[in-house]
Amino acid sequence: MKSTALANANIALVKYWGKRDEKLILPQNSNVSVTLSELSTITTVEFSDDYDEDIFILDDKVTSGKDKERVLSQLDMVREIAKSSQKAKVVSKNNFPTAAGLASSASGSAALVMAATDAIGLNLDKKDLSILARRGSGSSCRSIYGGFVEWNKGEAGDGTDSYAKKIESYDYWPELRVVVGVVTLSEKEVKSRSGMKQTVETCPFYDGWLKSVDKDILDVKEAFKNKDFSLLGKTSEHNALKMHALMIATVPSIIYWNPSTIRIMNAVKLWRENGLESYFTIDAGPQVKLLCLEKDEQEIISRLKAVDGVIDVISCKLGRDAKIIYEHLF
Ligand code: DP6
Repeated sequence: MKSTALANANIALVKYWGKRDEKLILPQNSNVSVTLSELSTITTVEFSDDYDEDIFILDDKVTSGKDKERVLSQLDMVREIAKSSQKAKVVSKNNFPTAAGLASSASGSAALVMAATDAIGLNLDKKDLSILARRGSGSSCRSIYGGFVEWNKGEAGDGTDSYAKKIESYDYWPELRVVVGVVTLSEKEVKSRSGMKQTVETCPFYDGWLKSVDKDILDVKEAFKNKDFSLLGKTSEHNALKMHALMIATVPSIIYWNPSTIRIMNAVKLWRENGLESYFTIDAGPQVKLLCLEKDEQEIISRLKAVDGVIDVISCKLGRDAKIIYEHLF
């Protein structure tokens, strides 16, 4: 009754921002991402009669509050499918700072559902794992897969058609890199969940976002198909800026950037003007992720490290599917 799973984080190139159903976690718009090789969560789950209550230990700390509630509600979903009432111990480790905008909820929820369903003896396919991961955190439905992934928003009220699918495998475009610039280690002030709710409720531009997203998805898919890096980068950068424009124009305003974030954004534009091609994307936090090709990777890493306020740089290839592993955390 014990299983361990490893899932990688992902970064959206066309963002998920806004829900049409808060409880089922159904998005307003479809979105696409790439899975990141170097950012991962490992989670071990054990169901046993020995446990009187569920225990969740994240990065060596016994967790309570909202983080624990999320894990418990996903365990309940798994127990309901398996018709079990056994309690569980869950131990999870991220190899990167939790909740600072590096998509820990995505890899965390994907690893959790994969380990929990396996531990309890369910043999779910990837589609059902993606749906279950989505119920914990929307973007995590994409972390079930490696490579280039699309989460189709779906139409059904019950969410049965809202899950991720792989478009291209991790090795389709081996030259592609995502270089992460870490500019803070602290947790973000406004979680994506409340930030996107506030945006849907108060941002006057939200309709414009919804009208423009499908074209971005078509462009990014086209870019992937033709390995057209410029189209991929331009579309991704513009999409991220549109999302941040929504956040800024929400009431009260949400600004996720810090001074280093802006320094990197300006630097990337300047590098591009001088012939070094790279594009940025930013989630609901201050960290910046740069898209580039292998030939420019080392130059981008050293320039990024030299930007004032950059604490760490992590260069990723496209990561693989989430998987069961055989080294348990306890
Ligand atoms: C900006 O998936 O963390 O990273 O579904 O409420 O858990 P919940 O939100 P979450 O939001 C991710 C928002 C984003 C864009 C993206 O990953 O697509």
